[in-house]
Amino acid sequence: MADASAAKMEKIVALCKRRGFIFQSSEIYGGLNGAWDYGPLGTELKRNLKDYWWRCMTQLRDDVVGYDGSILMNAAVWKASGHVDTFSDPMVECLLTKKRYRADQIEPQSGTAYYYKGITTSVNLPSPKIDMPFTVLVPKGKPEASAQKTAKQYYVSRGFKEEEITSLDLEKSEQVENSTKFNPENGAQLSEAKVFNLMFKTYVGATEDESSVTYLRPETAQAMFVAFKNVLEVARKKLPFGIAQIGKAFRNEINPRNFTFRSREFEQMELEFFVKPGTGPEWLEKWKEERLAWYEAIGIPRAKIHVLTVPDADRAFYSQGTYDLEYEFPFGIQELEGIAHRGNYDLSQHAKASGKPLEYFDEESKSKYLPEVVEPSAGVDRTVLALLCEAFAEETVKDEESGKEETRTVLRFVPRMAPVKAGIFPLLKNKPELVAKAKAVQDALRPLMKVSYDEAGSIGKRYRRIDEKGTPFGITIDFETLEGAKAASTSPTGQPIAIGQTDTVTLRHRDSMKQERIAIGDLLGFLVVAVS
Ligand code: GAP
Repeated sequence: MADASAAKMEKIVALCKRRGFIFQSSEIYGGLNGAWDYGPLGTELKRNLKDYWWRCMTQLRDDVVGYDGSILMNAAVWKASGHVDTFSDPMVECLLTKKRYRADQIEPQSGTAYYYKGITTSVNLPSPKIDMPFTVLVPKGKPEASAQKTAKQYYVSRGFKEEEITSLDLEKSEQVENSTKFNPENGAQLSEAKVFNLMFKTYVGATEDESSVTYLRPETAQAMFVAFKNVLEVARKKLPFGIAQIGKAFRNEINPRNFTFRSREFEQMELEFFVKPGTGPEWLEKWKEERLAWYEAIGIPRAKIHVLTVPDADRAFYSQGTYDLEYEFPFGIQELEGIAHRGNYDLSQHAKASGKPLEYFDEESKSKYLPEVVEPSAGVDRTVLALLCEAFAEETVKDEESGKEETRTVLRFVPRMAPVKAGIFPLLKNKPELVAKAKAVQDALRPLMKVSYDEAGSIGKRYRRIDEKGTPFGITIDFETLEGAKAASTSPTGQPIAIGQTDTVTLRHRDSMKQERIAIGDLLGFLVVAVS
């Protein structure tokens, strides 16, 4: 990651903690790698995202119904789906640090490789020469001494005392180009790649043997395939139709990284869209367009989303065609959502394995067949992270009270995603009339949206606080509210505000920092439209 991008990411992570978006899980015990908690603001943001997905994918459509499957399922599901046999990544281990990496994510390295056969020691164990091959890669031009240092650490880590190692027995050295056999972090040799299944295994019931094994689901999709017949019977839908679900998924990722981007516990928003055989490719295109438009509606510009046609060799085992929608994260262009044409792979696997027919009866053609499936599968946590990265900005502005230049940190969420929609402020906390009005405004707004109330500090400081939380509107109850507007104006709803008109407030816009007056009676209507 370039320095500026790494610095931006660090600032986002720090802001997430400072303002209560995302915390490390079990932080007081040193955390748990690959697990994250959402704090008060993060929870609201995530909920807004999931609710909007749900609204667009189910409530606003006639052809999709919702589902909420269990996380634990019969182990036979995962055997039939192919996950037991093939849901794995190649893993390598650093022979020095024992850290594990995904073999396909090792950056190729070039340099001089020093091949040590073993060591000679000053003690007989039972002989002074120990055979224990180990290779170290050092960048071109670096002396052998740096390879020796790493090699010595390796032999010490294998139980030999440093003071008893009299020499390292070098077999040969050679130049290597673009090798993935060495740890990019320290040059130490990596183990051969082993296949590592990503599913978390667990036991159901009191007996811990093979008969009670099952897995925490690695995707929500399977519940919808397995329940296809049940849903078909009750939903009375004709093809094409879909089943949508939001829920937790678990993968024992070898190397969780980039904040919440690759976690071991995460949430997915998945749609299994069942279509007539032969129409999968056409629906794949339609869903790609739908989903691109959806990201724009949550504030991720089209220009920042890259559509990758996943090459044949990289597609998941079930897919006949996949698009990855990728976002320009500070740490690189990375996948947000996969849209896959799964053919009838899953239904046919489950029909075979369970012995239960899962065909659809087509009234028109009076024939039975297994539908094909197109699946847009998005990650909740990755999208929350994309929203945070997209919203984060630092800018030099004039303080609204003193006029002095200062840096403000702001999260420019689109209002429908913002965790809190409006901050409500009495100008002075020791003026009971201002406080009473502010509380009345809060009571009027909160049945319909999340608002906050703050009476501490200068009004400028209070605006800065809501800027950092991404709150799009500030509402200040000031002396003009009680005594009447000092100037005539037009409110954002187009209503005239007359000189002397009471019960108006200052509405401050987060992004432009523009302030205008609006009647308290018009506030709710204005905000409901602005944040929906
Ligand atoms: N049912 C298809 C499926 O699970 P996937 O591409 O493996 O496909 C779909 O996962 C989405 O789930 C990804 O695009 C990503 O947003 C999210 N996801 C997958 N693994 C993740 C992880 N380890 N951490 C966070 N999100 C993850």
